[in-house]
Amino acid sequence: MLILRDLQALRRARAEACAGARRLALVPTMGALHQGHLALVAAARAAAETVAVSIFVNPLQFNPAEDLSRYPRDEEGDLAKLESAGCDLVWMPDVPTMYPPGSATRIEVAGPAQGYEGAVRPEHFRGVATVCTKLFSQTQADVAVFGEKDWQQLQVINRVVADLDLPVRILPHPTVREGDGLACSSRNQLLGPAERALAPLLPRTMQVALDAIRAGAAPAAELARAEARLRGAGFAPDYLALVEPATLTPWQGGPGRLLAAARLGAVRLLDNMAL
Ligand code: PAJ
Repeated sequence: MLILRDLQALRRARAEACAGARRLALVPTMGALHQGHLALVAAARAAAETVAVSIFVNPLQFNPAEDLSRYPRDEEGDLAKLESAGCDLVWMPDVPTMYPPGSATRIEVAGPAQGYEGAVRPEHFRGVATVCTKLFSQTQADVAVFGEKDWQQLQVINRVVADLDLPVRILPHPTVREGDGLACSSRNQLLGPAERALAPLLPRTMQVALDAIRAGAAPAAELARAEARLRGAGFAPDYLALVEPATLTPWQGGPGRLLAAARLGAVRLLDNMAL
């Protein structure tokens, strides 16, 4: 497994690894890798001959209130996990390599970037879109794997790739969950034991609401009930919304996506499920 920290070395390794029309699949990450990330690496393995994983904690997508320095980091652990997952290249640029002095270009997305996470964290998707566009360009990835765990992010990336005619295929991967239903997330390790025990109530409550809506209940009333249940249990829900899957506009009938964000103690849990 090659560990690359500068652009020249990455370009050289990419050209060698992908000689003879071998395709490259990229898994963009911010490290602190867990089962969810490793499932994306396995999907990348199945999709292309060469697998690259990027680890870059992107300062552009954090707002000043979220502490960038508090984001979990575990370089040694991550590299060991990637080695056993069969990753070929690890792209680990530092901040000045990604954003050299004078860097001034940003990718601004409207549409699916508006509302929900975009409303709570106004600069977030600009940072995500900018770094992912750069990662696609740096690695010349043929395929890039993204988790459905971050549903809005996945729709934003689909939009950027379509709008900028980027020559990369986006491969979505279903959310990987713990045995009790909680979606795997680097932030779960920041939950205290009591909070960790309570956390699976979020996906369970979402499932109950979806079942009721499928059975004909009115979505607005059902979502209000779900929010009240979460609040009563000690969550502070930011939103629970049933939306059109790709545009994130209000659900019109047919396939839908239930998006949820709720704070539990100091941790913000994000989840989503298909209707
Ligand atoms: P990060 O939170 O590290 O997530 C990297 C990828 O793993 C994303 O595509 C995310 O959706 C996916 N992922 C996380 N938890 C998952 C789970 N439980 N099941 C399935 N997939 C999961 O998302 C980011 O990093 C960044 O915004 C990034 C795209 C790297 C840009 O900086």
